[in-house]
Amino acid sequence: MFQANLVPMIPRIEKKSFGTTQAGEPVHQFTLTNATGASATLIDYGATLTRLLVPDKNKQMGDVVLGFDDLRSYEDQSPYFGATVGRVANRIAHGLFAVDERRYAVPVNNGPHHLHGGFKGYDKRIWAADTAMAEGPSVRFTLLDPDGTEGYPGNVRVTVIFSLTHDNALKIQYFATTDKPTPINLTNHAYFNLKDGGQSDVLGHILQAHADFYTPADADLIPIGKIATVSGTPFDFTQPKSIGKDLQATDGPPKGYDHNLVLRSHGGSLSPAVTAYEPATGRRLEVWTTEPGVQLYTGNFLNGSIKGRNNSVYQQYHAFCVEAQHYPDSINHPKFPETVLHPGTVYRQITEYRFFVGEK
Ligand code: BGC
Repeated sequence: MFQANLVPMIPRIEKKSFGTTQAGEPVHQFTLTNATGASATLIDYGATLTRLLVPDKNKQMGDVVLGFDDLRSYEDQSPYFGATVGRVANRIAHGLFAVDERRYAVPVNNGPHHLHGGFKGYDKRIWAADTAMAEGPSVRFTLLDPDGTEGYPGNVRVTVIFSLTHDNALKIQYFATTDKPTPINLTNHAYFNLKDGGQSDVLGHILQAHADFYTPADADLIPIGKIATVSGTPFDFTQPKSIGKDLQATDGPPKGYDHNLVLRSHGGSLSPAVTAYEPATGRRLEVWTTEPGVQLYTGNFLNGSIKGRNNSVYQQYHAFCVEAQHYPDSINHPKFPETVLHPGTVYRQITEYRFFVGEK
């Protein structure tokens, strides 16, 4: 913990080694520090956000994301902490889909289903990285995802730019192109805990979502195809309420949120999605996105088996994720917003995690 500097600092970017993968590839860490002393640390393994230090009501900087200090843990046991997820985030039922009447099978790595891009998704690739001062200190990650990798069609070139703005927003811009039609759905899988970075549960965080509908899912978390009202369900966050208030009324096992909320904006323009406020520290997070949905996940599968930074034991509900994205299994639901990218068009999405102090 250190005191936020009241004298404006010069924004800076520090690059250093983050070790070597078990396959012998060097990994680097980039720390972006803005003029108020807030900082975001990312690694080129998985284009992963590993730390995010933002002020509380007493101007104390504290980490608000779960993560590890060593590469080995990211390789061996990370449940996507802070990672860039692709080529298709969340589940594809039975790993099967068709594009332009051609059928594809992608690996099943989550029971009988495909999850987060397969066994070696974007979270486990080494991305090329360069840095710049643009909208604050920034790091740009690029990846060539070759045709056929994890079963997906087309050579896809992906760029993800993380910028830490002067007003404490972590802005993530996504771009992609392809040479064959392919589904694509990118997200960031940061696990947030605005109180203490994951040492205690998030049940007392107050959440509000700009979502009047959600996509009900089956016991395997595959959407059943309906777009249902949140009214009268535990998924109603239209008025602020604590994460814990109705959590036990969700389906299970395990109980908790792991559901796609349909955003009122329906995507396209940068719009407010979810606000989270943590009363003890006064930290408030506003998530803004161009995406039509967010997967709200409350760390239901964390069970204390993972030890993170500062010897934290990450237990169930010690974090929440707001994964801005298209709806799960969209490729198999023609009524859901389109996820196929065609040659000659550019995939573009923006998600911002904006930090403030004080309840609005
Ligand atoms: C999924 C969860 C999964 C978690 C970690 C979330 O996006 O919806 O079901 O456990 O990611 O993989």
